Amino acid sequence: MSTAGKMIRCKAAVLWKPGAPLDIEEIEVAPPKVEEVRIKIVATGICGTDMRSLEKKEFTHLCPIIIGHEGTGIVESVGEGVSTVKTGDKVIILCLPQCGKCNTCLNSKNNICTEIKLSMTHLTSEAGSRITCKGKLVHQYVSIGTFSEYTVIKEMSVAKIDEGAPLEKMCIIGCGFATGYGAAINSAKVTPGSTCAVFGLGGVGLSVIIGCKAAGASRIIAVDINKDKFVKAKAVGATECLAPQDFEKPIQQVLFDMMSGGADFCFEVTGNPDTVETVLASCHKDHGVCVIIGAIASWVSLNLNSQLFFSGRTLKGSALGGWKPKEEIPKLVSDYMAKKFDLEPLITQTLTLNKINEAVQLMKNGQCIRCVLLP
Ligand code: APR
Ligand code: ZN
Ligand code: ZN
Repeated sequence: MSTAGKMIRCKAAVLWKPGAPLDIEEIEVAPPKVEEVRIKIVATGICGTDMRSLEKKEFTHLCPIIIGHEGTGIVESVGEGVSTVKTGDKVIILCLPQCGKCNTCLNSKNNICTEIKLSMTHLTSEAGSRITCKGKLVHQYVSIGTFSEYTVIKEMSVAKIDEGAPLEKMCIIGCGFATGYGAAINSAKVTPGSTCAVFGLGGVGLSVIIGCKAAGASRIIAVDINKDKFVKAKAVGATECLAPQDFEKPIQQVLFDMMSGGADFCFEVTGNPDTVETVLASCHKDHGVCVIIGAIASWVSLNLNSQLFFSGRTLKGSALGGWKPKEEIPKLVSDYMAKKFDLEPLITQTLTLNKINEAVQLMKNGQCIRCVLLP
């Protein structure tokens, strides 16, 4: 029996107060309004950014809220005016919108749609959210909130993907993979034969390595304080792995010496503000390019020694790997289907949504690259 037009009661992991564990609750998900889409979520990953939202000290959102922004699902129903997806379509949820109309969307070089201002309200639309729990309006992290069995999001934040795509794997393309892989390909524009250094070997950092390898880098040096991450880093393409604590010299000096002046391309993927200066200093002094990918809290100012800029180094940012979300993320799914890259090494665990606090703990303990949650 069709559920279109009706309220759906289902489960979601709800955060009631900053720093608290997630509670599996029954929620009500109202039908989609104009230009909105109701999705049955099939799989969701937990990203490093979600982990930060679960920490009290970094919490800036409004509760109650459903976290999660890497998801895939099937369209249950669509609101008025929706033309790009229909009931039954397999879709990927986009953690950045693409409205198609703003100056960013109309410029082929840009990817941070001005509608990101809506995402920052953590609501479906200016008028609120379609989700309630125990009589309270529930916020959705970046207007998405994938730690749920159903969600309602804007049409500009969802894209149809290949009919044959395995949804339980494709969810990690939605943020982690697209962010890391695109940072190497689009933001840094890694060149064949170049040297690269990647700091932070979570799901995003490993995806940077996959991108560097695809771009033809000859040397990819993986750096992490957790040596347990090295096996996976090598499996996806790192040529060497280094733990900073194993050296007497600072790691930037080690890299400077190893590559006669530093690496051609360096990537900050730890999200730790103190690492940025190290990563920049690891870049080749004359032409090195340093890309900051790790999401650093908005109130943090970076401390960078001025001498690092008495050089030809470039320091740049990257969001969602520079991809135009609605247009290009589905192409990454097609590239996966065409076996251009492998995602299996990134998915280390699969659990049901009601075990989400276990998954969070695995991430906290550094025992997990990506844990995919299924309903
Ligand atoms: N030096 C080297 N590695 C570090 C350091 C450091 N000082 N601090 C942390 N790390 C490593 C951790 O050991 C971990 O392996 O960085 C890795 C971060 O990985 P995850 O927490 O799994 O995060 P991921 O999902 O990959 O996201 C990375 O991008 O989207 C952002 O907010 C996200 O900041 C996070 C970053
Ligand atoms: Zn736009
Ligand atoms: Zn993310």
